[in-house]
Amino acid sequence: MLVLGIETSCDETAVALVKKNKSKFGGKIIKEIVLSQAKKHEIFGGVVPEISSREHILSLKKITQTILKQSNIKVSNIDAFAATCGPGLNGGLLIGSNFAKSLSIGLNKPFFAINHLQAHILVSRVKKKIEFPFLVLLISGGHTQLIIAKAYNKFEIIGETIDDAVGEAFDKTAKILGLGYPGGPKIEMLAKKSKRQNIVLLPRPMIKKKNLDFSFSGLKTAVRRKVENKNSRDKNSDLAYSFQLAVSECLLDRCSHGINKFLKLFGKGYFLMAGGVASNKYLREKMVELCNKKKMTFFAPDPRLCVDNASMVAWTAIERIVNGEKGDSIKFLPNPRWSINEL
Ligand code: KG4
Ligand code: ZN
Repeated sequence: MLVLGIETSCDETAVALVKKNKSKFGGKIIKEIVLSQAKKHEIFGGVVPEISSREHILSLKKITQTILKQSNIKVSNIDAFAATCGPGLNGGLLIGSNFAKSLSIGLNKPFFAINHLQAHILVSRVKKKIEFPFLVLLISGGHTQLIIAKAYNKFEIIGETIDDAVGEAFDKTAKILGLGYPGGPKIEMLAKKSKRQNIVLLPRPMIKKKNLDFSFSGLKTAVRRKVENKNSRDKNSDLAYSFQLAVSECLLDRCSHGINKFLKLFGKGYFLMAGGVASNKYLREKMVELCNKKKMTFFAPDPRLCVDNASMVAWTAIERIVNGEKGDSIKFLPNPRWSINEL
């Protein structure tokens, strides 16, 4: 079974061809291309929806043709077409889903409308048989959620941010530090240069709170204040490290509570990280330590599969097909605010 996946929910135009393994569990990513629009948005300090839509239109067909050519596969041999239909920017979602729908109509094959968050979570199962239920920390540019994944299509949100998402906090802080967009990788790189001589005391919002929610908007404000009152000893690398440290400690505290709750309910299982911020090496190392302490099994996908990509979209369609689903109506409209609760 061969599925073409399309991802256009934000500022990456991505296409991938994924095949289900015949005998064993999992799948093989035959070919994937991710075209980042970051350079086009950088001067504006964030994603400009109109520019993003235009770039998707300009490159989607070309990328798809390249994928087919390089993998030496005829479009008629593809069994289903899948596209992200939310959450995300409406323009991009319309472009990607209409493209997949056209292929599906033209070739008389099923169309799958994919939830971006479900795709971020399920992509971990392409290479590894991770049984349900498992606990997942979903951290991206727009979302910060602790979720119990009960089945391929059943997710319970047990905690989420009350203000900014973690990725958003990284991006805004990077802007304050004059690092450009996207901020996550730039902060991580700068933090590595810190000699940790002048660690700045930043707040740890929500730490020790009984519920499982997160908050990050105060952190970036604290960084802004620090930058405004900077003295000659203060280095941006120390500030970047201090920010990353504060974010990690907040996430670790919330996840530690979440793991306790999960273990009480299920006794054992996997703890996963998903979404763009999950590619952060420092955070991954800290989460491994936490899981070792709590006797949970840690897993996070390759960094390239944490950030937006289309392999996760194609793979989610495969999981749905394996579970007997036949596809979605061509009339399915993208939903920019499609919650993972509504699957
Ligand atoms: O999942 P993703 O690619 O797109 C969304 O669905 O939002 O996540 C993008 C977010 C951005 O905010 C970006 O700054 C952040 O992930 N990010 C990182 C790193 N790489 C990407 N944050 C921290 N450290 C990184 N290495
Ligand atoms: Zn994403």
